[in-house]
Formats: sequence, C-alpha cells, structure tokens
Amino acid sequence: MAEKTVVILISGRGSNMEAILRAQLPIRVACVISNEPDARGLATARAQNVATAVVPHRDFRDRAAFDAALAASIDSHQPDLIVLAGFMRILTDGFIARHEGRLMNIHPSLLPAFPGLHTHRHALAAGVRIHGCTVHFVTSAVDRGPIIVQAAVPVLPGDSEETLSARVLREEHRIYPQAIRWFCDGRLRLSPDGKVAIEGARANENALRSSAVE
Ligand code: GRF
Repeated sequence: MAEKTVVILISGRGSNMEAILRAQLPIRVACVISNEPDARGLATARAQNVATAVVPHRDFRDRAAFDAALAASIDSHQPDLIVLAGFMRILTDGFIARHEGRLMNIHPSLLPAFPGLHTHRHALAAGVRIHGCTVHFVTSAVDRGPIIVQAAVPVLPGDSEETLSARVLREEHRIYPQAIRWFCDGRLRLSPDGKVAIEGARANENALRSSAVE
C-alpha cells in the first residue's frame, strides 16, 4: 500500500503527534502546523526532521481569515489525512466541509460524554467510574463526529486531574496511531447513518480497553 501523506495540527505539547511519529505508520508527515508559535511540539517535530509551519491565529482579523490561511498551508501539501492532535481552535464549517472524511481528532473523554474543555475535571466532578478517550472524524458538530475508536480507563479513588489525565493520555498514544493505521489500510468505512465501520475488524477491536478495566 502506498504511503499516505499526513499533515498534523497541534497547539501545544504534541505528545500525540510524537506517538504518531514513533508508531512506524505507513505515512509521510509532510508538515506539523501549529497556531501557537511557542508550541512545544514544534521543537519535537523539528528534532525528528519533520517540516513545521506556524499559522498564528492572533494575526488574523477573524476565524474565517485564519481558516483560509490554515487551509492554504495544509492544502499546499495535498494531504490524504489531516490529524488534529491537541489543536485548540474550532474550525469553520467551510473548512470542515472541504476536508470532511480526511479530518481526524482525538478527544480526552468517552464521547458523547464530556465534550469541550476540562474533561478530566468534569469526569471527576460527575463521579464516573470509567473515563477514556475517543478518536473521531471531525464534522461541524464539535466533538460529535463519527467515532472510530475508544479506549476506557478506570477512575481510581484519590485520582486528581493530573493522575487521571496521565492514565487517559497513555491510551490516547495507543489508539490514535491505531486509527491512522486503519485509515491508511483503507479499512474505515463511513456508513450512510454516519457510523464508522472497520473492515475486517474482530468484534470489539475498536473498543480498546486498558487492561485495568478488563
Ligand atoms: C490531548 O489530551 C488531546 O486528547 C486533547 O488535547 C491534548 C493534547 O495533548 N485534544 P498533546 O499536545 O498531544 O500532548
């Protein structure tokens, strides 16, 4: 199978990006693009000889102008897949429509629970016993796109936002490369009812559980 061209969008630490770069996927990461000039992940990407670019959202008068510049930067690489990895800007409907089916995101909760920010804080406040993360295709409904894969972790007595987020992050680093591998292998199918099927998957292969929950 031919290598897929991928562009990764980040805003900060870039640990998911790093997990993807390390995973030996059949991809060529054409560029890592950040909206934050100081994103730590940019240095990590450069250290691995991956090209980087910055499209600073503060330089644009509105969201549409920023999205147009971001789209131009992305499209110059003609990517098969755009991976949002801790990218903290909401994209316009036009941008999403233009890239639909090629736009993936990771969210640190078991969607549809806890969309938006501060998911670990909300999970602790709600007293849930199981928490986790979700890789999904991006649609114009924020954090509502078709789910590709989820992983669950237990919420343990005495957990803080930090301990819980670290436990979830370990799973993020596992399921994001997995979702990209399925995409590259041409195994992801979007059915007309908006659900993702993974061709040839074993039962529950797209519900990767942490061993602590099993
Ligand atoms: C991750 O928890 C991801 O799920 C969320 O933002 C965080 C980014 O972390 N969207 P990193 O930059 O990948 O380390």
